[in-house]
Amino acid sequence: MKHIIAFAGSNSKHSINKQLVTYVSGLTKDCQVEMLDLNDYELPIYGIDYENEVGIPDNAHKFLNKLKSSDGIIISLAEHNGAYSTAFKNIFDWMSRIESKLFFDKPMLLMATSPGGRGGQSVLAIARDRFPRHDANIVEVFSLPFFENNFADGKIINEELDEQLKNSIEQFQKAL
Ligand SMILES: Cc1cc2nc3c(=O)[nH]c(=O)nc-3n(C[C@H](O)[C@H](O)[C@H](O)COP(=O)(O)O)c2cc1C
Repeated sequence: MKHIIAFAGSNSKHSINKQLVTYVSGLTKDCQVEMLDLNDYELPIYGIDYENEVGIPDNAHKFLNKLKSSDGIIISLAEHNGAYSTAFKNIFDWMSRIESKLFFDKPMLLMATSPGGRGGQSVLAIARDRFPRHDANIVEVFSLPFFENNFADGKIINEELDEQLKNSIEQFQKAL
């Protein structure tokens, strides 16, 4: 059975991106999904001095190993000021110091959601440009705008968007 790693690019306990990832995880078929939480991989803010003096913390290695040992990756990125959340950028930076090609060519379903109408389009544009340079194999991209209006009781309630997401999940699973 394929083993998928799924996580939100957020350290919020009530992360809307985590809620979206959880919903998607429940829709995948015939695979085992392991949900990760950035809060379980706490790291100091990346700094070259820390790296030189202390080294690369274990949590960066642990998260990277999760990605490496997976068959596919589901991510939903929080957007902060048009970019990655600090929590995600930090673990991304730390992992890139161990292995630049940190997505290991694994099929990826890349998503974002936000309370606003752009649904994290800015952070998605950044990730679509950047992740392939780290060997991401982005199979599908999905954005959920107006989270509060379009998501309730653990699922997407806008039929059109839900259909779009289900198609993306199907394509992602075919690529595994
Ligand atoms: C510092 C900060 C900056 C934000 N900037 C944006 C933004 O640029 N675009 C956007 O759509 N939402 C922005 N938001 C709102 C986030 O999308 C919202 O907090 C969302 O819940 C974050 O996702 P999460 O719940 O998964 O952490 C920002 C929130 C914070 C705290």
